[in-house]
Order: sequence, then C-alpha cells, then structure tokens
Amino acid sequence: MVVGDFTQSVETVVIGAGPGGYVAAIRAAQLGQEVVLIEKQLLGGVCLNWGCIPSKAMIEASGLKHQIAKAAQMGIIVNDISVDLSKLHQWKDGLVDRLRGGVKTLLEKNGVDLVYGKAAFTEPGKILVDTKEALQRFEYKNLILATGSTPVEIPGMPFDHKIIIDSTDALALKQIPEHLIVIGAGSVGIEMGTIYRKLGAEVTILELSETLLPSVEPELSQVLARTLKKIGIKLLLGAKFESVDIKNKLAKILYTEKGEQKNLAGDKVLVAVGRTPNTSELDLERIGLETDERGFIEVNEKMQTSVEGVYAIGDIVKGMMLAHRASHMGKIAAEVIGGKAAAFDNLAIPGVIFSDPEIATAGLTQAEAEDQGYKVKVGLFPFRALGRAMTLGEVDGVNKIISDAETGAVLGVHIIGPHASDLIAEGALAVESGSHVDDLALTIHAHPTLPEGIGEAADDVEHKAIHIFNPPVKQ
Ligand code: FAD
Ligand code: NAI
Repeated sequence: MVVGDFTQSVETVVIGAGPGGYVAAIRAAQLGQEVVLIEKQLLGGVCLNWGCIPSKAMIEASGLKHQIAKAAQMGIIVNDISVDLSKLHQWKDGLVDRLRGGVKTLLEKNGVDLVYGKAAFTEPGKILVDTKEALQRFEYKNLILATGSTPVEIPGMPFDHKIIIDSTDALALKQIPEHLIVIGAGSVGIEMGTIYRKLGAEVTILELSETLLPSVEPELSQVLARTLKKIGIKLLLGAKFESVDIKNKLAKILYTEKGEQKNLAGDKVLVAVGRTPNTSELDLERIGLETDERGFIEVNEKMQTSVEGVYAIGDIVKGMMLAHRASHMGKIAAEVIGGKAAAFDNLAIPGVIFSDPEIATAGLTQAEAEDQGYKVKVGLFPFRALGRAMTLGEVDGVNKIISDAETGAVLGVHIIGPHASDLIAEGALAVESGSHVDDLALTIHAHPTLPEGIGEAADDVEHKAIHIFNPPVKQ
C-alpha cells in the first residue's frame, strides 16, 4: 500500500466495500484489472455488518424461541425458555466476523488493493482518501461509486442512539425493551418489530400509510396484517407522528390517527422510515456529477453516470435498496469496464421481507401488469392446502401467479408463507427466463414440499388446481 503525499495511478477504483463495491472489485480483478477498493468503515458494508446478515441471525434466533413455545401443539414441551441477549449478540457478531474474514480473503486472493479511509473527489480523474494517518491521492481511469445508504431521521426526532434508535442500534440493544415503538412498517420496521416481539417486548408499529405494504399484492399484505396481530404486534395504520417528549428514559409519542390526537409511551423508539443515499460527502460537484433532489445518482443500463469513466451502483442508484441488486450492478459495471457486452436488463429483482411468514416477490404485481396494458390471468393457492405446510405447523400464506392472458407468460410470482425467501427462486427464474405458466404447472414438484404450491398456483391460472375446489368445466 502506498502512503504519502503523492499520486498513485490506478486502472479501476471502487469506493465503498458493501455488497455492491466488493463484488465489483472482485469481478474487475477477475477480468485482469488493477483494482483499488476504498472503504471508510468495514468490509461488507451495511448488508454484512448492520443489515441483511445480523438481522437475519436475530430473526432466526427469535424465531427459534417462538417455535419452541409453539412446539407444545406437537407434543414437544419445553419449560423455562429464557433469552441471553449478550450470548445472542456474540453468536451473531461471530457469524458477521467470519463472513467479513471471507470477503477479505477473497479480495486478497484476487489481488485487490484495499485502502481504509474516506474518499472524495478533488478534480476530474482524481480522488483523495483520508486514512486518518495520511492523505492518499489516486488518479483513476475508471471509478465505481458504491457508497450505499444511511437511515433517515424524522424531523423533530433526531437519533440519540439511546432511546431514539436506528436499525444499527436495534441490532445491538443490550436489553430487550419493555415497549418498543417502531415508526414505519417497511422492511426494517416489520423485521425488527417481529424480532423484539418474539424476544418478549411489547411492540407497537406506527405507519403513515392507510394500508400495510401498499406496493405488495393485497392477498399477501392482508395475511401479514393478520399474522402480526396473531403474535401480538399492535399495528397502527394511517398514524402520523407529531412530536416526541423524552422524560425519565421514556419517550412519549404524540400522533394523529383519523384526525384524533393520541399518545403512547415506550422505552425505545425505532425510526425506520427509509434510507438516504451516501452521496453528499463525495464532493461530486468537483467532477460535475449531479444527483437528484434526494441525492440519488442516475445511471444508464451499463451503470455509467453522466461523467465519462464514472459508474454508480447499489443503494445510491434510485430503485430497490437490496444487496443482490447492488452486487448484480457491481458485476455489470466491472464487466462494462472490462469491455464486455453487459447491461442491467433484468425483468425481476426478487424482494424478500423476512417477516413471519416471509413475503417474497418477483416480477410484476397484478396492478403493475394491468397498468402496463396486460390482460392478466391470476392463479392463487393457499399454504393451508399443502401437506408439507401442515407438518411444519405453518399454514398461513398464499402463492399468487400473474400471467399474460394472451401469451401465457409468467409476469409475476408473489408468495407469503414459510420459506417464501427460498421458494421465490423458482418464481424469479420463471419471470426472468420468460417461462410460460405451463412450464411451472408441468414441472413435477416433489411431494410433500412447499414448492408444490407454486405448481398448484400455476394450475389455478387455468382453474385446474387439484387441492382446492375448482368447479367442473366441460372441455
Ligand atoms: P452499503 O452496503 O451501504 O455499502 C457502502 C459502503 O461504502 C459502506 O461500507 C460505507 O462505509 C462505504 N462508504 C460510504 N461512503 C464512503 C466514502 N466516502 N469513502 C469510502 N467508503 C465509503 N437487503 C437485502 O437484499 N436483503 C436483506 O435481507 C436486507 N436486510 C437489511 C436489513 C437492514 C437492517 C438494513 C438496514 C438493510 C438491509 N438490506 C437488505 C439492504 C442492504 O443492506 C443494502 O441494499 C445493501 O447493503 C446496499 O449495498 P451497497 O453496496 O450499495 O451499499
Ligand atoms: P421502507 O422504505 O421499506 O419503509 C418505510 C416505511 O415507513 C414506509 O412504509 C413508509 O410509509 C413509512 N413512513 C415514512 N415516514 C413515516 C412517518 N413519518 N411516520 C410513520 N411511517 C412513516 O424503509 P425501511 O424499512 O427503513 O428500509 C430501508 C431500506 O432497506 C428498504 O428500502 C429496503 O430495501 C432495505 N431493507 C431490506 C430488507 C430486506 O430485503 N429484507 C430488510 C430491511 C431493509
């Protein structure tokens, strides 16, 4: 590594080592590029350190506690279940450390030069990295921006990281709150609310929108609204936060619901109302790169920005803030730099909310397909009609398939149910490969398994599912 007040010329610089940046760096190195990857905090970014992995570890652990309590119906009786939160964190942090070590090894093996520090542009073609010990200057031919995002604050309620907390704080609480108030019923709010409810906290979620997850199929969000209630989460829809008053380590929230002012008090308030792109500290104006009013960078399908040689990927590009989208974009940017004919032309970016049950979607919703002018046919199949779901003791859920009535093409697959996060792989493949709904219906799904529900939902598009009643039609 070069330290000092001189400039190092590099073929490809990547700023940010999250799932976008580190994947881009590895792919670029695989293609023979000389790569420098700059990271101001930890390898793996939000996803690995403060997002996907630690949250899923906590979902699994809290889910296990919940399952053990539920197992009594199967005749398995465990008394005295207790939670050692510090042990849970130790286990979770151990997983994260191991995965981070794996990323480091991969970067080293691929010959990626790793620099820890905060990067910003000085002029076109040049960046400065503040490593705390020194300033390092780099001259680049190609540069991939992958600086990710951070949680948004609510005006009038800044994070104090003690009582008013963000998702990162929520993943490291030393004690289970008595009453966790969550503002925002998006992915973070639902996942973190479910974790702490299952660990024993009282949980209330305040959501501004009148409907839960308005962009998700209503057949799915209705199931979730029911199951959140079933585990004891109080969901307040159409609830507008007004103000907060903190006294004696208790936050009193004033909110409006149907024109009426109400309040509730909790020992922790998790603000989960979205994330904002990390583009303000890059000094983008020095290279003439503009962002939109919310700070997002615009790119074309090759991940190229309006400035030649500068690419942007991941959460800083408007769209779904998802790790696999960031990684996919990272590979494309690296391949375009490497002269390959790569482009982001995917039909489906699967999305998963690790709620209970899980929600997973790929492709168009019915409303989106109809808005785009498709005449659609829909197939539905409930999990409670699947033997495998019964044996799991997890029968809440539904599979929904949207197909083009004219061609039979699968336009969207939407699932709420146990293991929806894994099941959606078949749906994503169907949408991406332009499968006909018969390709799903005629694929033999092993019995008894959950994917049988996808085959039955595909059959249901033509009203021929077997394990739900379809009235006879003369053929
Ligand atoms: P990031 O992961 O944010 O990485 C950006 C990196 O850039 C950071 O390491 C940062 O330190 C670094 N950086 C920023 N500025 C600079 C600078 N000036 N100089 C040097 N380095 C800089 N997505 C999923 O797909 N599945 C999930 O289950 C999931 N769960 C989530 C749970 C939570 C609680 C949260 C908060 C997010 C979750 N996400 C999930 C979203 C996912 O984490 C992000 O979409 C993903 O991390 C974005 O990747 P990225 O590479 O664009 O940015
Ligand atoms: P989000 O955008 O998913 O949800 C925010 C919610 O807050 C929305 O429902 C919105 O209506 C509501 N809201 C906004 N302002 C409000 C207010 N003042 N009062 C009450 N409600 C308000 O954002 P979230 O949950 O913070 O997640 C950020 C990003 O992280 C998501 O876009 C997601 O892509 C990613 N993520 C992904 C996960 C996954 O893939 N499983 C898990 C967690 C996060």
